[in-house]
Amino acid sequence: MSNKVEIFAHRGLSGLYPENTMAAFKAAVEVGAHGIELDVQMSQDGELVVIHDEKIERTTNGVGYVKDLTLNRLKQYDAGSWFHADFKNENIPTLNEVLEWVKTLPYKLIVNIELKNDRIDYEKLEEKVLRLIHELNLHQQCILSSFNRDSLRRIYEIDHNIETALLFQGVPTDVLSIAKNLHVQGLHCEAVFAQSILGRKASLAGYPIRVYTINTLEGFHSLENTNVSVVMTDFPQMFLSL
Ligand code: G3P
Ligand code: MG
Repeated sequence: MSNKVEIFAHRGLSGLYPENTMAAFKAAVEVGAHGIELDVQMSQDGELVVIHDEKIERTTNGVGYVKDLTLNRLKQYDAGSWFHADFKNENIPTLNEVLEWVKTLPYKLIVNIELKNDRIDYEKLEEKVLRLIHELNLHQQCILSSFNRDSLRRIYEIDHNIETALLFQGVPTDVLSIAKNLHVQGLHCEAVFAQSILGRKASLAGYPIRVYTINTLEGFHSLENTNVSVVMTDFPQMFLSL
């Protein structure tokens, strides 16, 4: 890991703020994170919303699937109190809201948009996300990632220029041929991959290796002899101060 390793705030500064809320994203910028990672799902009326789970009960005071609720309905729920009463005014942000805010920042914050379509393959999710990125002229600052390989294929079909990354777990022996086949530029992996011989090979082949989710100093230091370029963490301030 070089001195140039960048720190991405996973779901925002989600160790201290409710994940995937504007409060968490703003806090990440305040501590100087190089990037933020966020998760996108789609509402019943086809709006792009920033929330990790397919269902809203873990992180809001509502119930049900995101796909069964309109944006108007989703916006009525409190997305902060589950974490702490101080955040009762947080709601589920739209991707548009987050990206509009990113445009106001004085530096180029990288936004890793994870398409959360590995369980529910939302129709036209890729088109909508790409259209928004281009409307806001943010294609230089966004990285699209997904566990869903069909989705990565669709992104490439629509847009050859947007940066994409394959998300995976463990150390899949065929990951380099899969990455090549999908035309992705980056690999988003667990520490075990970065530490493996295959991880080194992938980095020598030119793939940026971005590791999720490292939340301890021990975990961070375990990456010292690797070629990791980004560490995603719920506690960006912990590593940025090193
Ligand atoms: O994008 C990296 C990481 O966020 C993938 O896992 O479940 O935290 O979205 P998850
Ligand atoms: Mg994610």
